[in-house]
Amino acid sequence: LLAHFQPKLLAGRRVLMTAGPTFEALDPVRGLTNLSSGKMGFALARACVQAGAHVTLVSGPVSLPTPQGVTRIDVQSASQMHDAVFGALPGQDVFIGVAAVADYRPSQAAADKIKKSADTLTLELLRNPDILAAVAAQPDAPLCVGFAAESRNLDGYAQGKLQAKKLQLVVGNLVQDSIGRDSNAVVLYDAAGRHPLPPASKDDVAQRIVSHLAGLLK
Ligand code: CTP
Ligand code: CA
Repeated sequence: LLAHFQPKLLAGRRVLMTAGPTFEALDPVRGLTNLSSGKMGFALARACVQAGAHVTLVSGPVSLPTPQGVTRIDVQSASQMHDAVFGALPGQDVFIGVAAVADYRPSQAAADKIKKSADTLTLELLRNPDILAAVAAQPDAPLCVGFAAESRNLDGYAQGKLQAKKLQLVVGNLVQDSIGRDSNAVVLYDAAGRHPLPPASKDDVAQRIVSHLAGLLK
């Protein structure tokens, strides 16, 4: 553990999280998804448990073991993730959206495998619910933390998400620094401004995020 990471920073707190990608079915064997290993979310779940929290993790399809002490709910689609989050929401102190949720889903999933025929195929997509924004908009919302993985203009987009979704904290990073890697360079954004963290392993970054959010809870 990092020196500044006191083991009981989140003692007795209840933390609900999402992690991994979502998978939006197109037919029984195909679908749309996002690139996400789930490593950052699972590292954060581990760090929350180490800090003394009760952690419920709603995970999209990933190939990672469940961290010790974490209650895990597996889902596939954004709609299923939304319903699992709202089912577990009562009594939570903190909600952390780490999942790379698909913004759109096919308007219908074919019951049978789609056969190829014409040279072009057009898919109709529908907007998915924004899980994090919906949680933050609840009257008795927990402290809400979002992630912003951007390919450019990190400060602008991350601060925009902090305000638009009414969050207390956004963890921003450039995708080229993070996807599929074990280390991460992130910037924290809150009401007080921007706080860059030194590049570190996802476990170290997770512990620093927990320290920062514990400070916001007080
Ligand atoms: N998020 C969510 N539900 C969605 C989309 C995003 O809960 N349907 C959450 C993510 O888990 C993340 C935050 O919102 O914590 C930001 O996600 P991101 O994809 O960066 O932002 P969007 O609001 O979807 O905007 P865009 O993709 O256009 O940048
Ligand atoms: Ca998105």
